[in-house]
Amino acid sequence: MLINAKFTMRTSTAPAIALALACMFGSACDEPPPSTGQVAQGDSLPRDPHSYAQPAEARVTHVSLDLTPDFASKRIRGTAKLAIARGASADSVVLDARDLTIKRVTDASGAGLGFNLGTTKELLGAPLTIALPAQGDTIVIEYETSPDAAAVQWLTPAQTAGKKLPFLFTQGQAILTRTWVPTQDGPGIRQTYDAAIHVPAGMRAVMSADHAGTEGEKDPRGLTVYRFRMANPIPPYLIALAVGDIAFRPIGKTTGVYAEPSVVNRAANEFTEVDQMIAAAEKLFGPYRWGRYDILVLPPSFPFGGMENPTLTFATPTILAGDRSLVSLVAHELAHSWSGNLVTNATWDDFWLNEGFTTYLESRIMEKVRGKRYADMLRQLGRQDMLKAVTDAGGPKGADTRLRLDLGGRDPDEGLTDIAYEKGAAFLQTVESVVGRERLDAFLKDYFDRFAFQPMTSDRMVAYMKEKLLKGDDEQRINLRQWIYEPGIPANVPPVQSEAFTAVDKQVEAWKSGAAASSMTTKDWSTHEWLHYLRALPDTIPSERLADLDRAFSLTSSGNSEILGAWLLIAIRNRHQPAFAALDRFLTSQGRRKFLTPLYTELAKTDWGRRMAMDIYRRARPTYHSVAVGTIDGVLKWSEVR
Ligand code: BES
Ligand code: ZN
Repeated sequence: MLINAKFTMRTSTAPAIALALACMFGSACDEPPPSTGQVAQGDSLPRDPHSYAQPAEARVTHVSLDLTPDFASKRIRGTAKLAIARGASADSVVLDARDLTIKRVTDASGAGLGFNLGTTKELLGAPLTIALPAQGDTIVIEYETSPDAAAVQWLTPAQTAGKKLPFLFTQGQAILTRTWVPTQDGPGIRQTYDAAIHVPAGMRAVMSADHAGTEGEKDPRGLTVYRFRMANPIPPYLIALAVGDIAFRPIGKTTGVYAEPSVVNRAANEFTEVDQMIAAAEKLFGPYRWGRYDILVLPPSFPFGGMENPTLTFATPTILAGDRSLVSLVAHELAHSWSGNLVTNATWDDFWLNEGFTTYLESRIMEKVRGKRYADMLRQLGRQDMLKAVTDAGGPKGADTRLRLDLGGRDPDEGLTDIAYEKGAAFLQTVESVVGRERLDAFLKDYFDRFAFQPMTSDRMVAYMKEKLLKGDDEQRINLRQWIYEPGIPANVPPVQSEAFTAVDKQVEAWKSGAAASSMTTKDWSTHEWLHYLRALPDTIPSERLADLDRAFSLTSSGNSEILGAWLLIAIRNRHQPAFAALDRFLTSQGRRKFLTPLYTELAKTDWGRRMAMDIYRRARPTYHSVAVGTIDGVLKWSEVR
């Protein structure tokens, strides 16, 4: 089954969808697309094993939501009006739905349409098959979400900074949008959307889209209405919503931050470089095509560091270090505005095309904004993460150390490792080392333009590289196929040298040979130098030496989440009791999976640690988002012991 009968190449920003549809259902396919080269010929998109949709028969092109979140019952209620592009013989459309109650389906005039919810599978939910109307291309689904909808987290007032009002946010990636929006939930099926969200007085709704309403609009029930419109066709995992006591502070003309009132000033101060980042990215990768770029800082249970929801990056408050030391995360999410949101992995098997490209772009943006010394630190920490990911995936022969994955029926979450991010970035560093920066940069700019608003596969990317970038024996020198389709890290990966870390290594050596912590030269160390230092310490450290480090550098009371996370890992490994109150606090006060997973995993290795982990998790679990719960349940084998 093909998602797209044949793909068309476009250079304009205008919605590519019209042409793509004409191609799929009309005559445009018969005409050869312009300047196809070898990429387009016979190229087709793979079936997406994580969606029930049959987009070649009938596909969603636009989603129009009218929704009211009900905080008391933890349900979102309302309608999704879908525009469908249908093949000549299609009499039904198949959507993805998980934990949704479908109340009624009608056509645009309100006449009932038949529908059937098929067998539910745990991860995928159920196919929702709807009979298409004889006339028109609109279906209206009246539905409500379940209190357990995996995409939605409902926070009590106690879980917010303000403590007064509840909060809710959604997290669609990878296949969770179907738990709050009935649509075709595959990354290859792009859709425009608009929404009206009805919220109680004192609350604000924000979405990954332009604001389209008039301020202060009320509905007949007295609820405030917020309206949105996303005119670019996006993959459905990027539809996102947050509702709560949310304030706004501008940063630049087209940038700003949303956060709870007590957080918003701190956030605005942390992200002052965002306009420079956009300027750097546009210079490198071409125009930013999404209008505004705002950042929403969420309450601490947000399970990720950041999520690249278009026009509105969602971010964890754990990057508000107060000294702008963790803002490369913003560069990362911003970079997705090109790699991921413009050119999108066609299925989750090609997740590395989103994250590996983005990790490479992130370091290029940071190099422009903060300089090479800074970017080299990021790159070297990334290399360490890459090597650890190879080990975690079973070593250099492990099947999941491939960039191009073969997930089959597995959860796309299993592909969410630093292989995609860091091996992906290392691949592009390798390409850069062979063809040179100038040629790679020209290629990237062209690639984002050519494939804007289109799905991408590894095969297609490789074909386009061969067509546009590689000359002579470049392909052999890069080892292109080995990098993308085979496990392990090819030997030609270019070394990363960080000047700053060489200096840190000297201090590590001195410490190892017995020097007191207070005699170390750590003045002006950045967060990244600290991280490198902590990672380079031996696995086993006597308690008095840990106490010495802590006395000298106040690690246990660090307000920097990355430094604290790295330090607590060392504390667990060495059963360093003085840090355990801080460990408890860290695990119960934020829900970022990147911090939770290694700490719980380390605790679970010993009996005493396991007991401590279970005690903490019992209290913390109700405050975590479902994606963090899913992971930590696995780490602690929670269901077996409960
Ligand atoms: N898109 C990802 C987050 C994601 C991936 C959510 C897959 C769900 C499924 C986001 O861009 C990301 O990579 N976030 C990182 C931060 C980044 C600086 C490495 C994170 O959350 O840690
Ligand atoms: Zn990312």
